[in-house]
Amino acid sequence: MFITLDGGDGCGKSTQQKRLGHRFQSQGYEVVLCHDPGSTALGNEIRHILLHGHELRIDNKTEMFLFMAARAQMVEEVIRPALNEKKIVISDRFLLSNFVYQGYAGGIPLDTLETVGQIAVEDIMPDLAVILDIPYEIAAQRIGNRNASDRMEQKGEKYHRQVRNGFLQYAAIHPNRYVVIDAVPPPNNVEMAIQNVIHERYGIDFSFPLSENSNS
Ligand code: TYD
Repeated sequence: MFITLDGGDGCGKSTQQKRLGHRFQSQGYEVVLCHDPGSTALGNEIRHILLHGHELRIDNKTEMFLFMAARAQMVEEVIRPALNEKKIVISDRFLLSNFVYQGYAGGIPLDTLETVGQIAVEDIMPDLAVILDIPYEIAAQRIGNRNASDRMEQKGEKYHRQVRNGFLQYAAIHPNRYVVIDAVPPPNNVEMAIQNVIHERYGIDFSFPLSENSNS
């Protein structure tokens, strides 16, 4: 099963990815976590250019291709082999981020992104794509506290407001593909909401971890 977690910067994806990974492991599943862009040697190099290449000029179109290239490599090197081995793959971001950041906020036409995206990921699309939704103000506060301003985070308020609207609009257009979860409540509540969706869709019940069962 392939699950993706997406959302604006500061929505808490990384925390939820780790927690969900542990939950699946506690049920006896083998889990692979990945991070888009990244998770391969080439992807990490590209990630560095995209997030820390402050001195570089990177045109919007080029930015789109760099994200796509990192993802294409991650699909072939990490995701496809893991899915072939029946592992659970949970990706921190995926193609949807490209649609929203470079499309809705960056101005690249969506049909271009969908065409290039199809080449990059081929048949590897998420079984479950979760969007963690958070208003700009709260995200900005969280990022401020984290004190890490990378090239994407520095694109400013207007851009990041468009990102949030883009996620919601895209989810509204494709309600069967995306599940939107309110990411404002505390992490435990968000975690529960994600688990509930997985339970409803796939019948996996995380309330009885394997370790507890096996001790009894
Ligand atoms: P990420 O490492 O997930 O950052 P954060 O933990 O701050 O959410 O993502 C890196 C940045 O790259 C983030 O600002 C979102 C952006 N991004 C795109 O613009 N396009 C993409 O296709 C992806 C995957 C990420």
